[in-house]
Amino acid sequence: MNKLIKLGPRLKAIASFVPQGTSLADIGTDHAHLPVHLLQAKTIVKAIGVDNHQGPYESALETVRAYGLADVMEIRLGDGLVPLQKGEVETLVIAGMGGKTILKILQTNPPVMEKINTLILQPQSYEDQVRIQLLPKGWKLKAECLVTEEDLNYIIFCFSRFEGYSLIDIEKICKELTADITESVPIPSSVLLRFIWKLGPLLLWHKDKLLPNIIDQIIQQRQKIIKSMTKTERNEVKQATKELHAEINILEGIKKWLLQ
Ligand SMILES: C[S@@+](CC[C@H](N)C(=O)[O-])C[C@H]1O[C@@H](n2cnc3c(N)ncnc32)[C@H](O)[C@@H]1O
Repeated sequence: MNKLIKLGPRLKAIASFVPQGTSLADIGTDHAHLPVHLLQAKTIVKAIGVDNHQGPYESALETVRAYGLADVMEIRLGDGLVPLQKGEVETLVIAGMGGKTILKILQTNPPVMEKINTLILQPQSYEDQVRIQLLPKGWKLKAECLVTEEDLNYIIFCFSRFEGYSLIDIEKICKELTADITESVPIPSSVLLRFIWKLGPLLLWHKDKLLPNIIDQIIQQRQKIIKSMTKTERNEVKQATKELHAEINILEGIKKWLLQ
């Protein structure tokens, strides 16, 4: 009997969203630790790992072999959902990639998507676009959470076909958040909405304890950009610097609201 593969906080949080008894495909599986752990823990009944690079594909094959799971887990080489057949799995995990890549992968095989009931996504960027693009397609946001691993913060989404917050629910939350935030800090509501989508309506709604940290990181990124901009008198640069300062003010206002 092989020892249970140990997961770090990020993969553990992803695993916590996987429905009991489901069949799962892990797209961009790399080492395949997540699906192997889920099979060992008997959370899932079958897994398919997909990767589009030879090295990770072979590493995943080796993990499956080493853990003796070849009867319940397959590894396939290919792009996104292309190596999958319609109805083979009902849960998808796509983790550790940019948000744009994740959104692109979700479009690689529409018939497969028809049978997917749960999407667990961990984008490394463009998280607002993931929310903005999936909710209008009828996906419900069942949960989102922030997790820290080795000093880095990660966002994890669980979208479901059946349970969770619909686009209408999230828009209502955005409205209430806008009213609440603008009551205590002077931010024009017209620009606040963009930041609510960026930071996460549900995370703001629950005043997630990691959000002030995330806001500090975004502020630092903005300050770096301002610093790197040449001290030119060019109008476009002056305008861009002014906009970045305005964004920093808004982020500081939201942080103040979170901490009050
Ligand atoms: C940073 S690793 C993440 C591994 C694992 N999912 C995790 O979160 O720990 C990203 C993996 O995704 C794979 N990948 C990137 N784009 C892909 C695509 N379009 N289709 C399949 N795999 C892809 C890469 O080869 C790489 O192994």
